Amino acid sequence: MANVVVVGAQWGDEGKGKIVDWLSERADVIARFQGGHNAGHTLVIGEKVFKLSLLPSGIVRPGKLAVIGNGVVLDPWALFAEIDKLSGQGVEISTENLMIAENTPLILPLHQDLDRLREEAAGKAKIGTTGRGIGPAYEDKVGRRTIRVSDLGDDETLEARIDRLLAHHDALRAGLGAPAIDRAELTAKLKEMAPKLLPYAQPVWKVMSEMRRGGKRILFEGAQGSLLDIDFGTYPYVTSSTTMSGMAATGTGMGPSAIGFVLGIVKAYTTRVGEGPFPTELEDEDGQRLGERGHEFGTVTGRKRRCGWFDAVLVRQTCAISGVNGIALTKLDVLDGFETLKICVGYEIDGVRYDYLPTAAALQAKVKPIYEEMEGWSESTQGARSWAELPAAAIKYVRRIEELIQCPVAMLSTSPERDDTILVTDPFAD
Ligand code: GDP
Ligand code: IMO
Ligand code: MG
Repeated sequence: MANVVVVGAQWGDEGKGKIVDWLSERADVIARFQGGHNAGHTLVIGEKVFKLSLLPSGIVRPGKLAVIGNGVVLDPWALFAEIDKLSGQGVEISTENLMIAENTPLILPLHQDLDRLREEAAGKAKIGTTGRGIGPAYEDKVGRRTIRVSDLGDDETLEARIDRLLAHHDALRAGLGAPAIDRAELTAKLKEMAPKLLPYAQPVWKVMSEMRRGGKRILFEGAQGSLLDIDFGTYPYVTSSTTMSGMAATGTGMGPSAIGFVLGIVKAYTTRVGEGPFPTELEDEDGQRLGERGHEFGTVTGRKRRCGWFDAVLVRQTCAISGVNGIALTKLDVLDGFETLKICVGYEIDGVRYDYLPTAAALQAKVKPIYEEMEGWSESTQGARSWAELPAAAIKYVRRIEELIQCPVAMLSTSPERDDTILVTDPFAD
């Protein structure tokens, strides 16, 4: 049985939520494996709009098991706020359909403080983070001083963990001119949270291994995008997790052999939120038009997303790094009505042609995109549910993308609505 990993192949907001929601009908388990509530995944199902940050998108379908894996950093207060919000929209969430890995590290208020303090101190050199404490929480995990879900189950362990954590944070905060942490207040908050959170805690690796052996289908839901990856992204303007497909295995406790198909989610143009290089960024009318037609405002922070032409160089690169078997091309409808479209097919740096984005920041700063022009289409593709409904020029655009990124289109999306989706190859098929 093929299990499927969904990853964003650009800078995030490619439409992962919509595609995961659509695919989750075919899955039994939907698992998040990295990131945290920096993600913002929008699902449009008829009249209802769901905005998910931490909960796997499969949660809205009854009868599915949603899993938060150990690779995630979990803000328990944000989790329960999201559970309350969704309950208000009629989604039932309980220990029956939500499971959290007991070895998941927590995001605490002190992580958010640090995220904000660092960004403020950086001034112009800021990353443009979502301010959710993601980076500082991952630092503490790797620094072996984090508090994990299971630590809430034993007071003595919890107290010792808090001591270790505060020894580090109080020193850091003093350097940044912030007051020391109120230890008693933090301890009380965590002890109050423990009985709410612990019932969801499970050895996820074990439960998922048993489900896998029982023939259940698993859908791994990536957050962020490949160009925000801590190793392969546009460092340091990245998030602090591994956003590539390999993380699905370690971020839930399954071997790479559990992964059957890697689906890269790709927007038909390019967007980015926050700072950092963006070779095909448009600051002209075309860019504005993409932003308006695509409603390119961040779900989490409401920030305007930067927009640009499709960059085939970057997507070919990220598809190779994540071992993408097929892509879901989204937001094709946003391109309706453009007379001409441009696709970036290579870069020029200091007069030298590149077919990939080099790592060196100094080179990235000098990248000039080399464009190929394509004819646009005046017909509407919005809501198209079959190839036959697409104008010839749109099909040509899709085919050219496949060629340039060296990866086939497995799915197409033509509106935010769940069912406005074209299936070309079923990622779950063996
Ligand atoms: P994610 O972070 O990758 O899940 O993407 P977001 O949900 O942050 O951003 C994608 C936005 O585009 C959401 O508002 C979706 O409802 C919307 N969307 C998804 N697919 C399509 C599509 O094919 N066409 C249009 N017009 N909008 C889409
Ligand atoms: P989804 O899952 C787009 C960006 C932030 C910032 C950088 C670091 O909705 O695609 P962080 O708070 O993670 O330390 O911020 O990463 N970023 C995203 N951009 N979509 C996301 O998630 C993002 N999550 C983080 O804007 O540039
Ligand atoms: Mg998003």
